[in-house]
Amino acid sequence: MNIGVLASGRGSNLQALLDAGPEALGGARVVLVLSDQPGAPALERARKAGVAARALQPADAATVEEYEQRLVRLLAEAGVELVVLAGYMRVLGPVFLEAFGGRTINIHPSLLPAFPGLRAQKQALEYGVKISGCTVHYVDDGVDTGPVIAQKAVPVKDDDDEQTLSCRILQEEHRLLPWVVSLLARGLIRRQGRRTTLERKDL
Ligand code: GRF
Repeated sequence: MNIGVLASGRGSNLQALLDAGPEALGGARVVLVLSDQPGAPALERARKAGVAARALQPADAATVEEYEQRLVRLLAEAGVELVVLAGYMRVLGPVFLEAFGGRTINIHPSLLPAFPGLRAQKQALEYGVKISGCTVHYVDDGVDTGPVIAQKAVPVKDDDDEQTLSCRILQEEHRLLPWVVSLLARGLIRRQGRRTTLERKDL
């Protein structure tokens, strides 16, 4: 299974996929990384790993639709079958979802549906929850609203600030995302409406 990754920034989740490698990913392999930010460290990480990487900014296109068409074309040309949003800071619209809906997943640093959107860890601290975590979910047209595939809980400690909590959650993100990708690559995720189930629980 060929994976395309969309990333806007640091790219540590991309790195987790690159480090895992095709064997741990159930045969899946990152073949293309696209970013809306030309200076994104994610692009550099991809190139270092020998993976094709390109910046494509919305400003390069006349409309959002055209921008998404160009994303879709690049992904399709690379033979991408699964798109992973790994810190991609834009909401995808109908043109993208028409092509890759149901085949696009996102990782988010909270236990959705709690704390969608930006700075989820800060939201969790301000709300005062004792447990937060991370979620991998299918992407739909909302902000972090698509069907949940997997979640991992992480404790919130009394002396946490945004950085310490983000760091603890991120460690789990780096485990959860490759695991979910391996399950999808092996065809072990079933989806019925909003509910997803794991074909084999021992994996
Ligand atoms: C992660 O916390 C991810 O959950 C969120 O954005 C952050 C991206 O980090 N969507 P990185 O670029 O993968 O290091």
